Amino acid sequence: MIISASTDYRAAAQRKLPPFLFHYADGGAYAEHTLRHNVSDLASIALRQRVLKNMSELSLKTQLFDETLSMPVALAPVGLTGMYARRGEVQAARAAAAHGIPFTLSTVSVCPIEEVAPAIDRPMWFQLYVLKDRGFMRNALERAKAAGVKTLVFTVDMPVPGARYRDAHSGMSGKNGPLRRVLQAMTHPEWAWDVGVMGRPHDLGNISKYRGNPTGLADYIGWLGNNFDPSISWKDLEWIREFWDGPMIIKGILDADDARDAVKFGADGIVVSNHGGRQLDGVLSSARALPAIADAVKGDLKILADSGIRSGLDVVRMIALGADTVLIGRAFLYALAVHGQAGVKNLLELFEKEMRVAMVLTGAKSISEITRDSLVRELGALSRSHEAIPA
Ligand SMILES: Cc1cc2nc3c(=O)[nH]c(=O)nc-3n(C[C@H](O)[C@H](O)[C@H](O)COP(=O)(O)O)c2cc1C
Repeated sequence: MIISASTDYRAAAQRKLPPFLFHYADGGAYAEHTLRHNVSDLASIALRQRVLKNMSELSLKTQLFDETLSMPVALAPVGLTGMYARRGEVQAARAAAAHGIPFTLSTVSVCPIEEVAPAIDRPMWFQLYVLKDRGFMRNALERAKAAGVKTLVFTVDMPVPGARYRDAHSGMSGKNGPLRRVLQAMTHPEWAWDVGVMGRPHDLGNISKYRGNPTGLADYIGWLGNNFDPSISWKDLEWIREFWDGPMIIKGILDADDARDAVKFGADGIVVSNHGGRQLDGVLSSARALPAIADAVKGDLKILADSGIRSGLDVVRMIALGADTVLIGRAFLYALAVHGQAGVKNLLELFEKEMRVAMVLTGAKSISEITRDSLVRELGALSRSHEAIPA
């Protein structure tokens, strides 16, 4: 099969992965309305075609905090990435670094901070969840700092985990889960050998380093499930702000009032995100939430956005709606599952090519020239939403 778009990778990943892993990545919360709208709202935004503007010189470079990015894309934190390819976090981080963009290591990665950071020649980003065990949070921050991490992505939209019904159907959770997972692995031998056998140890590397005595993935996932903290408020983040001297990005903002609170708190950036539709089903897609947030805080902090981005065209759409940079989640995970580091490399090249075509044909020579003028105002689902693009 010729891989020519991120949708090809999704189909190929579905064939290669045991179903419990494919559906864990592909699924969302509850009836998955928000998951679908993330993709369809973004795809429905009409780009404004412009021609004959001498577009021979094009730059996709962008500056974010102290970093230069070859294009305004970073890899999102994705838990359990190391179950999708052998030592998957290392492979994805290498592909991102080679392309000149940031990789974000999840709190719940398979490979620990100390394995991934030294494998690449640019500082990775680290994502932290709010957990009841503040000792773990402090330990993780100290280790990230020691490993040269500068940018912290602090995820705040998981005070409780959203229910993912697909996981119960697929065997990821629920009755007979362990047995079903073994049977699925046996019928996917390429994955079973490459990742299931050769990709060990399969634990949550950052947590096992803290807790010691690894007893397996299920134990860690249980620990994590009991550790999400619904009592969290902005006040509880102050010690992190004091401790962390690099850029701090708050991930999981979907409302302009919360974005203003992030500015008051002193955040350097936010990620406009509904966690890829994996938390509260029925909330706005990121594409619909973004314009109002950009109107409220653009220029006060950096605006990142994710959820539903499947192509370079979607990157241009998110930038036009007000994002400075975007994160991609599933798109890179599928490519990684299919061809490892080479798959992510290829995916990033596809994104870049797609962005170039979109920029040439919307008349934007640089990222800062991608604005709401790059969109057709009277068309598209967004102009009917309550955060309509101003006419
Ligand atoms: C399998 C999977 C695991 C994820 N794990 C994390 C995580 O550990 N921390 C986090 O902040 N976000 C996590 N996310 C959310 C992503 O960071 C990102 O917000 C989301 O994938 C963006 O949507 P997209 O997949 O449509 O691009 C995860 C997403 C997926 C698909």
